[in-house]
Amino acid sequence: MKRPAFRVFLNLLFALTIVIPCCVAASAQSAPAPNPQLASKELNARVEALLKQMTLDEKIGQLVQYSAGFATGPGASNLHYDELVTKGQLGSMLNVTGVEATNHYQHIAMEKSRLHIPILFGLDVIHGHRTTFPVPLALAASWDPSAAETVARVGATEARADGIAWVFSPMVDIARDPRWGRIIESSGEDPYLGSAMARAWVKGYQQDDLSKPDSAAVSVKHFAAYGGAIAGRDYNAVDMGEITLRQVYLEPYRAAVEAGAATMMSSFNSINGVPATANPFTLNQILRKEWGFDGFVVSDWGAVSELINHSIGDGPTVARKALEAGVEMDMEGNLYGTVLAGQVRSGKIHESVVDEAVRRVLRVKFALGLFDHPYAPESPAYDATPERRAVARKVAGETLVLLKNDPVEGLGDLLPLTAKAKKVALIGPLADNQREMLGAWAVKGDPKYVVTLKTALAERLGNRLLYAPGCEMLSGEDANVLKQVSFGGADSAHASLPLPDDAKTIVEAVETARKADVTILALGESADWMEGEASSRATLGFTGAQEQLLEAVVATGKPVILVVLAGRPLELKWAANHVPAILEAWSPGVEAGHAVADVLFGDVNPSGKLPASLPRAVGQEPLYYAQLPTGRPAHGDLSRLPRNAGEKFMSRYMDEENSALFPFGWGLSYTRFRYDQPAISRAEVPVSEVLASGHKPVATVGVDVKNTGKVAGTEVVQLYIRNTSASVEQPVRELKGFARVSLAPGETKHLDFPLGFDELNFYNVEIQRTIEPTTYKIWVGGSSLATAETSLKVVE
Ligand code: NOJ
Repeated sequence: MKRPAFRVFLNLLFALTIVIPCCVAASAQSAPAPNPQLASKELNARVEALLKQMTLDEKIGQLVQYSAGFATGPGASNLHYDELVTKGQLGSMLNVTGVEATNHYQHIAMEKSRLHIPILFGLDVIHGHRTTFPVPLALAASWDPSAAETVARVGATEARADGIAWVFSPMVDIARDPRWGRIIESSGEDPYLGSAMARAWVKGYQQDDLSKPDSAAVSVKHFAAYGGAIAGRDYNAVDMGEITLRQVYLEPYRAAVEAGAATMMSSFNSINGVPATANPFTLNQILRKEWGFDGFVVSDWGAVSELINHSIGDGPTVARKALEAGVEMDMEGNLYGTVLAGQVRSGKIHESVVDEAVRRVLRVKFALGLFDHPYAPESPAYDATPERRAVARKVAGETLVLLKNDPVEGLGDLLPLTAKAKKVALIGPLADNQREMLGAWAVKGDPKYVVTLKTALAERLGNRLLYAPGCEMLSGEDANVLKQVSFGGADSAHASLPLPDDAKTIVEAVETARKADVTILALGESADWMEGEASSRATLGFTGAQEQLLEAVVATGKPVILVVLAGRPLELKWAANHVPAILEAWSPGVEAGHAVADVLFGDVNPSGKLPASLPRAVGQEPLYYAQLPTGRPAHGDLSRLPRNAGEKFMSRYMDEENSALFPFGWGLSYTRFRYDQPAISRAEVPVSEVLASGHKPVATVGVDVKNTGKVAGTEVVQLYIRNTSASVEQPVRELKGFARVSLAPGETKHLDFPLGFDELNFYNVEIQRTIEPTTYKIWVGGSSLATAETSLKVVE
């Protein structure tokens, strides 16, 4: 990715002589927004004063991190941490939590180490800390950045109370392939939505002020493009053009840095052949030079030593390459601590490189106020306060996506459930499983606090509720294999699970369904076994015997409501064709049951929208709405199977439609919304004006949205554009605005969406964000299928 000299020369020539406006474009792209605290003179003076006193070994100690608690990766260390801390050779620890454990090490650092430099404790605080909220993908489905901010706020407060000042969150990787299990930790497929969520996460954790006692420094991860893993296989290589890298994958990281992110985490993958953990182009050129990042980068778990497997050198060489590229801290890698000093002493690494890394780490420690307030307060650990549970319930309510809601005879629209349904059957392996509701990476979430759907429905229905588990999450064979490899290892609780007798339990479930007026099926996939890190899948169906259970219950002829509990888009094609109502509920967290019941009974009108396309078949993946155009576009409509060459030789599947089963942005409500024709504030705008506009709008798109139904509802109004003639081809649609709007029955509200450089720019072949004369098609509506249309012309 290093640019050849002639290209730099060409860029210069181009910028200086040919197109003056490009200078404006270039300046719009290179204005750094460093975190002012990290850049402060006073803080940096303290850093310099301390640095001067440090020996080489003490400096390197600040670049070393070990996990002294549970393991979140392979090959965990088992060292004498007390001794390392005493000698000043351990600057950071992960997976050590709680007042007692963190203060134990902190006292050693502050009282016994020569320079009294506090330890920075980091942890995977991903969707809440002790109060577990819905998983990040679900939060993205709320299209409500303030919900993510709230979750981050609660997470930071609880983490600080547990001695953790540094959270390994948010994960802002664009995820366009649900085979990749980590899609659960992402905001889905779209850079605009992903950037909005990224900003909110950072704001919630850091509050624009790291020194507050309840602020935590973020670690934005995984830099970079980790979500682009080929074939959706975790840790796999990423191979993509620089324009896609920048315009799609890097955007949310950029947004997070602009929001003041204090640290970043480098990713496991390589990018176009260069490992991300030793990648000067992404870490130094883009992150530091272009974006002005003043914080530090920590490697992912073991990623520095894994560079040996990437074949870029032996231990000392890869440590040097990672450090020189801009990875300041080695997470659980054992390399910086063991080989860097030798590399400096033998002249292979200049000590100034180490100094710069140490500066960056110390900056964050000073900004967090750790030197002045190093200890966790001696307060009892928080456990499930009613106030936080109420917030968790409200937030979870916003994340549920009603995918389908058809009328059934005698009941009308199947949802919300009314008193007409006298007896309700609840069936499925996820109906009463506390652990599964927490989702992946609920590190400190305690299952015992979880309200399951069974508990919540029993509160409402009493003995009108019938229940049968139906089957296990995994078939006997799967269970035998997976219990050996699940996160907890072979000795986890799962290892002792009896093998399921699904045939018998399905028969019992069918009998239960027959006795009821309506059946709620709670199906999905196991968060514990199949979601999150190292949980890629080659198939996207329900696991185990759940599909058989679904089909058997539907065969009773009773109306079925399917509640899908999963951390990734699953393949729901059969269900979509046979089940009248489907609610996508993700992994909803500690208040799972209440939140789902609130929606099922209409106390909460669903407002979530899909942050990732749901496929018809796994073979469509990676499937996303913002596709680039093809010279042979086709609808892929199977009812029009090719009869002639014009229909055959098209970009299509012969055995499946091209489109998503449920597209990006999709989600129904218990009311209906009507969109009027959107209006653009001006029909034309000159290129020069857009280029000069910075973050200011040059036009607005106005639209009236009306609630035409009988109940109040919230709609996520979405604005999409298409740049119809750029020098680099642009996606057929791109999200460039959204707003949640609540409307009483019959109420109309007017919304204005700004359009300016930020929304309209794209990367040209010179890798500059720019604007060219073109026409932008613009759509406003309730999903990526929006049809209400206007346009904006950009002229010379
Ligand atoms: C590996 C994961 O990739 C990363 O997301 C996490 O923060 C670290 N391990 C620490 O647990």
